[in-house]
Amino acid sequence: MGDKVRRMVVTGIEGQVVRSLLERGQLSEKFEVVALGRPALDLSEPDRVGAALREAQPDVIVSAAAYTAVDRAETDEPAAHVINAVSAGRIGAAAALLGVPVIHLSTDYVFDGEKPEPYLETDPVGPTSAYGRTKLAGERAVAEATDNHVILRTAWVYSPFGRNFLKTMLQLAESRDHINVVDDQVGNPTSALDIADGILLIADNLLESDAADLRGIFHMTGSGAATWADFAAEIFAASARYGGPIAEIGRIPSSAYPTPARRPANSRLDCQKLAHNHGVKLGSWEYSASETTERFIHSINIKS
Ligand SMILES: NC(=O)c1ccc[n+]([C@@H]2O[C@H](COP(=O)([O-])OP(=O)(O)OC[C@H]3O[C@@H](n4cnc5c(N)ncnc54)[C@H](OP(=O)(O)O)[C@@H]3O)[C@@H](O)[C@H]2O)c1
Repeated sequence: MGDKVRRMVVTGIEGQVVRSLLERGQLSEKFEVVALGRPALDLSEPDRVGAALREAQPDVIVSAAAYTAVDRAETDEPAAHVINAVSAGRIGAAAALLGVPVIHLSTDYVFDGEKPEPYLETDPVGPTSAYGRTKLAGERAVAEATDNHVILRTAWVYSPFGRNFLKTMLQLAESRDHINVVDDQVGNPTSALDIADGILLIADNLLESDAADLRGIFHMTGSGAATWADFAAEIFAASARYGGPIAEIGRIPSSAYPTPARRPANSRLDCQKLAHNHGVKLGSWEYSASETTERFIHSINIKS
């Protein structure tokens, strides 16, 4: 019976997942969550990653920091590769050296989106963007460095923190009555706070058991699927309930909203393996999106 509080070291400082882990960690009796980011840990300097992690003395590492600017990565792939792939491998190597498990965050954008059904962990990958390629290389680098890993592919992350689609919609609705939103990409909106709850459970499982079926690649998203336009509609329905800003949604095809990076048309992830092996299943995205919207409206000035 290990009653000792374990030290969970999470990469990044201001990211959605790291901030959510810091918040949820305060409720945990099992983990003390520590954020490790720039300047102490800079992923654009892979050679210094190992020393920074050693110094932080983790019992478990959560690799949540990444180059996440999907469109910018199209013209900045070498820099994204260093952060998302080379340094991910160094994090895996540091975990191996320290004898601790690593939970590494990855993305639905490793898939090409051509499959009509939700993707399984065993489905062939085929990223359509530079970001997706660098994240896939990161998965492989972590897996090569240590068997004691969980690679968590998640998607469409939103939270009360940082920049995300939910916050953007509420901010736009402050000044616009009508917003056009893409309606031909389908995915799984996922609350970073729900991700944090899931990671705390997974980390506990890894520290309690050496079982091989707890390790490897897992999909972890909110339950239920949506297009971006469906997601926006739900945000405004919640906003209306809480007295926040609303806008009418124009449902448009991706072709009417060109972006540098091509995104998969279907990136729904099947999360049954995580439920079966780890006993972790995230709740409905609508419920969490409503809660996050309420939190925005009641606690912060969304114009700022
Ligand atoms: N956001 C999504 O929709 C989404 C979807 C699928 C998968 N994911 C994956 O989920 C994970 C968490 O995403 P998120 O939404 O929490 O990310 P985020 O909010 O965009 O934050 C990115 C984090 O990475 C850190 N970072 C960036 N460059 C760094 C560097 N050179 N050195 C150290 N830290 C650096 C940032 O540092 P600072 O704290 O200094 O700003 C920040 O903490 C990532 O692996 C991402 O690829 C995200």
